[in-house]
Amino acid sequence: MMEYTDKVMHEFQNPKNVGEIPDADGIGEVGSPACGDIMRMYLKISDDGIVEDAKFKTFGCGAAIATSSKATEMIKGRTVEEAAKLTNSEVVEELDGLPTEKIHCSVLAAQAIGAAIEDYHKRKGDHSKQQ
Ligand code: FES
Repeated sequence: MMEYTDKVMHEFQNPKNVGEIPDADGIGEVGSPACGDIMRMYLKISDDGIVEDAKFKTFGCGAAIATSSKATEMIKGRTVEEAAKLTNSEVVEELDGLPTEKIHCSVLAAQAIGAAIEDYHKRKGDHSKQQ
């Protein structure tokens, strides 16, 4: 049986920001090559480029739910540029760690946020911000 930290268990049992944003400004979907699970991220971004809201839907496991819940909380209030820099390691650190075999689950949230931000820039027609 894998050992999860109290923070991971708490986040998994009380996930925040689960769902969709109907009028999202950016939507990103990614799949995990490791397990085949899918994550979809919705971002609401203000006119001055601040992440006002973030919601996710996933077919992933408990670790994916816990890290996505934490990641969405972490990017709210950040600028789009700052949100795009969020790494899965930062999220894992906030949760006091994850079992090694579950690290790939934490990658989904950060990648889906990145994909949603890319979608946001595309919708705006702002190609200069794309990597
Ligand atoms: Fe697929 Fe965790 S096992 S997201």
